[in-house]
Amino acid sequence: MDIKNYIASIPGFPKEGIIFRDITPILQDPQALRYVTDTFVDFVKKTDADFVIGPEARGFLFGVPVALECNLGFAPIRKPGKLPRESISVKYGLEYGEDELCMHTDAIKPGQKVVVIDDLLATGGTTEAAIQLVEQMGGKVVGCGFVIELDDLHGRDKIGDIPVCSLAHYAGE
Ligand code: PRP
Ligand code: MG
Repeated sequence: MDIKNYIASIPGFPKEGIIFRDITPILQDPQALRYVTDTFVDFVKKTDADFVIGPEARGFLFGVPVALECNLGFAPIRKPGKLPRESISVKYGLEYGEDELCMHTDAIKPGQKVVVIDDLLATGGTTEAAIQLVEQMGGKVVGCGFVIELDDLHGRDKIGDIPVCSLAHYAGE
């Protein structure tokens, strides 16, 4: 299956000069969703991970079905002010300014091997923050899965030598 057939490209959204890559057609098609989920499941099994995490909001859409199919647990990464119990947070840089991501402190057990699942790898700031959150709890990120990777933004540079599985690449289009 060519998953790019299920990724809509919208020039000028949310602002001029940006091409938005929309994954909702994947969610609308059970075969495409099955393909993405199964591909991530194969990847997670190869990493020998024992837990899955995903950043809000689009990381939840793919992370939870993958965790369920792998018979693993899942924990959310959230923006500040959303998690009700004791949490840790990491600040990360945006193109303009700074943002922050949080996880419950009991989400990851020391020694746990974790895969991060998200819809998109762009600058890598989100994934870098996820890796730091996991490490602060004594876990280790052993893989990162993305539906889309924007090659021009070099997000992989922030992931180092952790294995990455990206299903569709875009560069300068
Ligand atoms: C988007 C996307 C990734 C992140 C990638 O999320 O879903 O999570 O940006 O960008 P980066 O690699 O430069 O960090 P966004 O923050 O727009 O939120 P959403 O998932 O809630 O829509
Ligand atoms: Mg996101």
